[in-house]
Amino acid sequence: MNYRVPRTRKEIFETLIKGLQRLEYRGYDSAGVAIDGHNNEVKERHIQLVKKRGNVKALDEELYKQDSMDLKMEFETHFGIAHTRWATHGVPNAVNSHPQRSDKGNEFVVIHNGIITNYKDLRKFLESKGYEFESETDTETIAKLIKYVFDNRETEDITFSTLVERVIQQLEGAFALVFKSIHYPGEAVATRRGSPLLIGVRSKYKLSTEQIPILYRTRNFENVKNICKTRMKRLDSSTCLHAVGDKAVEFFFASDASAIIEHTNRVIFLEDDDIAAVADGKLSIHRVKRSASDDPSRAIQTLQMELQQIMKGNFSAFMQKEIFEQPESVFNTMRGRVNFETNTVLLGGLKDHLKEIRRCRRLIVIGCGTSYHAAVATRQVLEELTELPVMVELASDFLDRNTPVFRDDVCFFISQSGETADTLLALRYCKDRRALTVGVTNTVGSSISRETDCGVHINAGPEIGVASTKAYTSQFISLVMFGLMMSEDRISLQNRRQEIIRGLRSLPGLIKEVLSLDEKIHDLALELYTQRSLLVMGRGYNYATCLEGALKIKEITYMHSEGILAGELKHGPLALIDKQMPIIMVIMKDPCFAKCQNALQQITARQGRPIILCSRDDTESSKFAYKTIELPHTVDCLQGILSVIPLQLLSFHLAVLRGYDVDFPRNLAKSVTVE
Ligand code: G6P
Repeated sequence: MNYRVPRTRKEIFETLIKGLQRLEYRGYDSAGVAIDGHNNEVKERHIQLVKKRGNVKALDEELYKQDSMDLKMEFETHFGIAHTRWATHGVPNAVNSHPQRSDKGNEFVVIHNGIITNYKDLRKFLESKGYEFESETDTETIAKLIKYVFDNRETEDITFSTLVERVIQQLEGAFALVFKSIHYPGEAVATRRGSPLLIGVRSKYKLSTEQIPILYRTRNFENVKNICKTRMKRLDSSTCLHAVGDKAVEFFFASDASAIIEHTNRVIFLEDDDIAAVADGKLSIHRVKRSASDDPSRAIQTLQMELQQIMKGNFSAFMQKEIFEQPESVFNTMRGRVNFETNTVLLGGLKDHLKEIRRCRRLIVIGCGTSYHAAVATRQVLEELTELPVMVELASDFLDRNTPVFRDDVCFFISQSGETADTLLALRYCKDRRALTVGVTNTVGSSISRETDCGVHINAGPEIGVASTKAYTSQFISLVMFGLMMSEDRISLQNRRQEIIRGLRSLPGLIKEVLSLDEKIHDLALELYTQRSLLVMGRGYNYATCLEGALKIKEITYMHSEGILAGELKHGPLALIDKQMPIIMVIMKDPCFAKCQNALQQITARQGRPIILCSRDDTESSKFAYKTIELPHTVDCLQGILSVIPLQLLSFHLAVLRGYDVDFPRNLAKSVTVE
């Protein structure tokens, strides 16, 4: 929203649409906007809603189709909201998309990320009061509820943020919400619980503060009714953020910094239950209750992210760009942390907890999807370097099992976004059991990075493609670095450590060599793209490569694909093998080489025609291969970083040849913030 920077409706639309496009990777089945309009007959502002099934482009086209839009209309204060949806409740269509509204007059409109678990009860209650629902969404209950609170207000001068405060006290589940109302023109209120939300601040002028103090109610009250009768501390200039001298300042609310980075890199991350309100060009933040652990203020932080990092450049898809960025992204993960001269590793976010970690009973490494595979990929080297038992867990299953966790456990939470609901819930579960929690994320300020006791930022740069690629290799390296740091004073492990550190040093160069196989992999894709199924098999250090390769293929090509542990071949998968079944085998010169050769024999004995990813100097495997992709050799425990890349590239080419949108696979979203 802008304040005292007059903008036309066209400019507002463009800002919102651009922001949505940057966020589209998080959900893209429908989209909508709400902005101010002016009703000349009654000389009043009203709210114009435009919603559309499909992607943001479809919404953009729709906006320009509607002739009621006066694009030149200008407002001095203008607050617009927009949302791109990934359906949880209700099919993707215009009515179910956001903003949701309180009534046909659009008195209150709201956008929502997350899920409201008690929406059925709320809806029943509101229906009993005569409110008529038009959508199947949980979000619509929020829009109706705020109108209900407004319609039943005791005083005329109730503030917008007080209404929101009352609404969220009735909500269960996860949410990031932004509200707009015709009753509060030019004002905005936003709040969150469990879903991310940040505020960007742009001003050419000096700001009144860098730390916004949190406001609380003047009395502590448990009883909802009493809240109506008490007042918030008076707002004075020290409790608000504004530009000094009443100058222009603009505020941007977003669930992810990539939506706003082209306007500003100055952001405030909101905490759960913060209520942020912009009125009269000033931003204030308040909370209902004060808890002992509360930080009394929210700081404005400067993000390092650059606009160009979230642009596709010369690549046809973000995924492709991100695959090709890996020589730099793995380097950035190690930068300033691995000292190749002294063979030491220092992870600043963990160093103060190292003693405690060394004393622990076991390590539990938890994640979902690709992040889980990074845990599988590094389990063996972590066991070797830390000499601790290491459990790797899928977050959802870990929770389903009510897994016993103890206070002398150390639990790692691996998540690119830092927002995945299952992983976040597993983190809270472990915190409740007083285990030490460690975050490994790619997103500064994300829920997981904030809620863990300590952690590692993987520094891979923003990842936009839904299918994760560079985050995987950087998570992999982060976990290896952790193992190296843990083993620094183990005499017996010094040679091994040096070998691994040397391996890390040469990785960026070797990744470049693997990327140069792109054309060959494209040719392979030409042969495979009409197939229905593709098996990927390996073992040991490369088992995770098979799981991850198969996941990439499933996610974006919609082919059936399975990652198979070669050791399990004769316990079932062998039945699938014949002349027709495409199978990729990952066979590297490592301790499992001989066993992989056995598997290879079993496959060829059944007329299988394996495509083999193997080491360059491997003459044995190539004799039996239908085709080979030869990879440079590195230390066994790092080989998985090189062996996964051909599969990333293969899935990309297969998807393009099959005519699919690589960055927006059907039914999937980048961060899954619902359980
Ligand atoms: C979603 C994405 C996957 C990702 C997984 C975990 O399912 O589609 O690509 O691996 O979430 O995401 P996280 O952000 O926690 O790593």
